Amino acid sequence: SKPRILVARAVFPETIARLQQHFEVETNQDDRGWTQDELIAKLKDKQGAFTTGSERIDDKVLAACPDLKICANMAVGYNNFDVDAMTARGVLATNAPDVLTETTADFGFALLMATARRISESEHFLRAGKWQKWSYDMFAGAEVHGSTMGIIGMGRIGQGIARRGALGFGMKVIYHNRSRLDPALEAECKAAYVSKEELLKTADHVVLVVPYSPASHHTIGAAELALMKPSATLVNIARGGIVDDAALAAALRDRRIAAAGLDVFEGEPKVHPDLLTVPNVVLTPHIASATIPTRRAMADLAADNLIGFLVNGKPLTPLNPAVLGGK
Ligand code: GLV
Ligand code: GLV
Repeated sequence: SKPRILVARAVFPETIARLQQHFEVETNQDDRGWTQDELIAKLKDKQGAFTTGSERIDDKVLAACPDLKICANMAVGYNNFDVDAMTARGVLATNAPDVLTETTADFGFALLMATARRISESEHFLRAGKWQKWSYDMFAGAEVHGSTMGIIGMGRIGQGIARRGALGFGMKVIYHNRSRLDPALEAECKAAYVSKEELLKTADHVVLVVPYSPASHHTIGAAELALMKPSATLVNIARGGIVDDAALAAALRDRRIAAAGLDVFEGEPKVHPDLLTVPNVVLTPHIASATIPTRRAMADLAADNLIGFLVNGKPLTPLNPAVLGGK
């Protein structure tokens, strides 16, 4: 009989149809938000899970689901997985890297430009009927071309944003990362490695693309915001929790930095109420990878991982390949 899988959220009907060729599939096409206990009840008798980055797979879930062999995330980020617990219990984790890199880099750059040039704030002004006359400094923003962009987290997405800035906008690009890129890649991205402190002090635009982990929690808090130029902007397309949102809201309110653009939030889909009351922030609902071709590619890759592993024993993008050796 076919392996049983759970698709935890609504996805493309074509993805479901493809999975049904290989698996007995329980779906959630009405996209109900499950509690963890409901998730466990559905996952108990399954060998595989198609997850989206919002379902927490921790030891409690794993202990309750002894048949589970793989969780395939339709996301590059996987902070919803306790990978150590999965490895300890022999459960494979896979994510969806690469297919979203350029689309997400596009969005990072869009958010940087919208933030620097005050696009949301000025549109709200116009829609509210407040536009009475031209004035010389109305919604004057920060320069993008020729400015200095500081990227924290220089994975593939960070590199894509660096290329856009350096090659398309003549920006000076500096970056900070756990490890330096090799020199050829640095040269290709036209990016110079600096300390986090130097980056925060000198960048006109700070862009966060670092994966979430306990070590990257509050990479930007009150102390880091205090190092930034009062004219600087901050963009977060990484994960909620990388920024201390309460400290950021206070810095924006007091104009200790000029503006911020945020696609991810601590405790999302809830947003810190203070962020909703400051005008100099662009807020988007975690949509950096949201184009139909890219979301299809992400869903296909998650499906390919499930099929590859449960049917052929060969996943495409394993996060804990140690599990493969033991099975
Ligand atoms: C989106 O945030 C992802 O991790 O793919
Ligand atoms: C992270 O994996 C990235 O692609 O930036």
